[in-house]
Amino acid sequence: MTDEARQGRQIIPLKDGWKFTRHALEEADPLRGYQVHLDDSGWETVRVPHDWAIAGPFHEDHDVHVNSVMEDGIKDHITHVGRTGALPIVGMGWYRQHLKIPKMWEGRRITVEFDGVMSNSTVYMNGVSCGSWPYGYTSFVFDLTDHVIYGEDNVLAVQVCSLPSASRWYPGAGIYRQVRLVIKESLHVNPWGTYITTPEVTEQGAAINIRTSVSSTGAQPALAQLVTQLLDPSGHMCAEDTIIEQISGQAELEQHLYVEHPELWCTEHPRLYRAVSMLLLNGEEVDRYETPFGIRSISFDAQEGFQLNGKRLKLKGVCLHHDLGPLGAAVHVRAMERQLELMQAMGCNAIRMSHNPPAPELLDLCDEMGLLVIDEAFDEWGEGKVQNGYHRLFQDWAEKDLRAMITRDRNHPSIIMWSIGNEMREQRLESGASTTAFLTAIAHDADPTRPVTAGFSMSDDAIANGLAAAVDIPGWNYKPHRYEEYHRQHPDWIMYGSETASTVSSRGVYHLPAVKEIPMEPKRDLQASSYDLSAPPWGTTPDQEFMAQDDLPYMLGEFVWTGFDYLGEPTPYRTEWPSRSSYFGIVDLCGFPKDRYYLYQSQWSTKPMLHLLPHWNWEGEEGRPIPVVCYTTYPAAELFLNGQSLGIRHKSPASLPERYRLRWDAVPYEPGVLSVIAYDKDGSQVMTHEVHTAGAPARVLLEADRTVIQADGEDLSFITVSIVDEQGKLCPHADHNVSFLLQGPGEIAAVDNGDPTSIIPFSARDMQAFHGKCLVIVRSRAGEGGNAVILAEVPSLQSGRLDIACHI
Ligand code: GAL
Repeated sequence: MTDEARQGRQIIPLKDGWKFTRHALEEADPLRGYQVHLDDSGWETVRVPHDWAIAGPFHEDHDVHVNSVMEDGIKDHITHVGRTGALPIVGMGWYRQHLKIPKMWEGRRITVEFDGVMSNSTVYMNGVSCGSWPYGYTSFVFDLTDHVIYGEDNVLAVQVCSLPSASRWYPGAGIYRQVRLVIKESLHVNPWGTYITTPEVTEQGAAINIRTSVSSTGAQPALAQLVTQLLDPSGHMCAEDTIIEQISGQAELEQHLYVEHPELWCTEHPRLYRAVSMLLLNGEEVDRYETPFGIRSISFDAQEGFQLNGKRLKLKGVCLHHDLGPLGAAVHVRAMERQLELMQAMGCNAIRMSHNPPAPELLDLCDEMGLLVIDEAFDEWGEGKVQNGYHRLFQDWAEKDLRAMITRDRNHPSIIMWSIGNEMREQRLESGASTTAFLTAIAHDADPTRPVTAGFSMSDDAIANGLAAAVDIPGWNYKPHRYEEYHRQHPDWIMYGSETASTVSSRGVYHLPAVKEIPMEPKRDLQASSYDLSAPPWGTTPDQEFMAQDDLPYMLGEFVWTGFDYLGEPTPYRTEWPSRSSYFGIVDLCGFPKDRYYLYQSQWSTKPMLHLLPHWNWEGEEGRPIPVVCYTTYPAAELFLNGQSLGIRHKSPASLPERYRLRWDAVPYEPGVLSVIAYDKDGSQVMTHEVHTAGAPARVLLEADRTVIQADGEDLSFITVSIVDEQGKLCPHADHNVSFLLQGPGEIAAVDNGDPTSIIPFSARDMQAFHGKCLVIVRSRAGEGGNAVILAEVPSLQSGRLDIACHI
């Protein structure tokens, strides 16, 4: 360790070398894993972030919920099998890390920061409890100083207790987010200790206010000097301020700075500044703390909608749950980035973090990529939805958790609203208004610069009982047909669709006839058709929400349920094994777009596009009328089958779904080529697209999102595996079993196929193609550079092979 490292803040990520074991909750903790001299050498060695449940196996008995969900108007006793993903989340887990604490740290504060532990965690240092944190989604810090032994081996132990019936979706299990040791001098900036606001923003200049929360834990008061420098997006210092204060215990120091001609943060140019806070004692730097932030203004108006930097912007948003499909809940930054890239390419500009605070890395990515965010705290308040849900904690923890979320997140320019809850059962109660007011007041106190919202499903009740009026901006879940009425009744309310659509579909599945399928009778294949006509009774098709948002300028926009499929909540097959993940995603669990992706893209993106569905392989159905649908940015298109025109269709503003979809309802099937030509407003031909009948499966095609990755043990390559014919055309019915082998550096992190009913574990080394495709994810190994070769084999077909370069 250098001399320099002895001074100031030191941050040590705790990733490798954790020892881990787990056992059933019913066993009365036989391990007592906090004991210092316990022999943990036989435990598994894991890397954190770690989700203990994602490897599987899937089983219908994992976390079965009986009649535990009351939020969907369900009155009868029903058994939900795949509600939390049919994965082994329930149980007690112990994590242990052996740490050498050097003597030179004596006199400093030694803390441990967790970005999130799922859930009910207790942290022990050398056998002594340092604190417990029940909610799995909020970040927390414990001070270990009084319990460490300098110059010796120390044991940091974390007990995790994951209860049954505690969630409405897959929560993951274990230390699924980052952990770090933070060693500080006695005079230091507190955790999440800077609060940066931009009360005045114009193109000429921006006023920047910074409140820095500082601790001095020494015996004597410290005469502290706080120097704050602002660095512009190119890293040049653009403002500086110094303040000197005598500090004993806690203090909050306030500074006012000014930036001339600021580079504003916006969705197209998400420019980030940095505030560097330096604490000096007797002229020597004792702490340095950096905070990225953006300079931007937001405003909301009951008539004009949302404005960013004075410009109107319709929110084209999606709701996202926190799991990363086959990688589970464990934080993988590249997987999050890929999700956001896919959403942005669709034209999406906003994310609702449903229904809980996300990993901090996801918010960093939204800042860097220019996505707007609703940061959401809770899915339950005091009234439960599931037996062991947050209602058990609400009384004691709601304020702590809400403050933890806002204090950690309030410098992110991407965040535009705080959501205090989703579809709380308190909507039906008169007392709900006071709970809403209580949480709104906390949010206003922790950050008065952003409005407070909540997602209301029982909108009439929420209005009658005063909850809607107790937030700044009520969000309506699934109410496009009520927006006009609510606006008339409450012309001064600012409103948006906090949750919309909930259309269900399975990638590559087309049921005939193409009709609304809910309730799903007969149950057939436990899939939902990609004609995009079906939603549960409370939901709608995308089109109904588009129409409301397009016609009602005062609506801020919408947040579709959901951008990606997620583990758990397999509506509409809640009771049917083996359905175990959602059908709601615009994109499937692998990250493969469903047809709906192109419907949203046609409305949200400015990029010209043309998409046809379904596939054109209806062997044995020759002559059968097949509905063909086109999603396009253009107003009209003409369809051809094997060169024969089947007519032009025009979008028709007056009716649904013709306003957003072009349809040829009965195209008699014959193999060959379906082609479509788009016409612009003047009737000129502007774009063409073709769908071919694929021949017999011939080979396995591998295509990576990136063929060069960093050898840091974290970077990922997502490899799409397609079963194709001789010409390279996707075989839309192929369901071959593909075996994978990785040679060279790296490892197979997971496999998947996007089938919500598949019970092949994500940790397997083979995967069955689902409608022609599956996915293999390769992760690099830290420090192991070179070429990784991934081989994909199907006995009867030509194998696939791809090189992934791992760069050191
Ligand atoms: C909403 C709920 C979401 C999800 C969705 C499914 O009512 O807020 O969490 O359950 O329904 O349509």
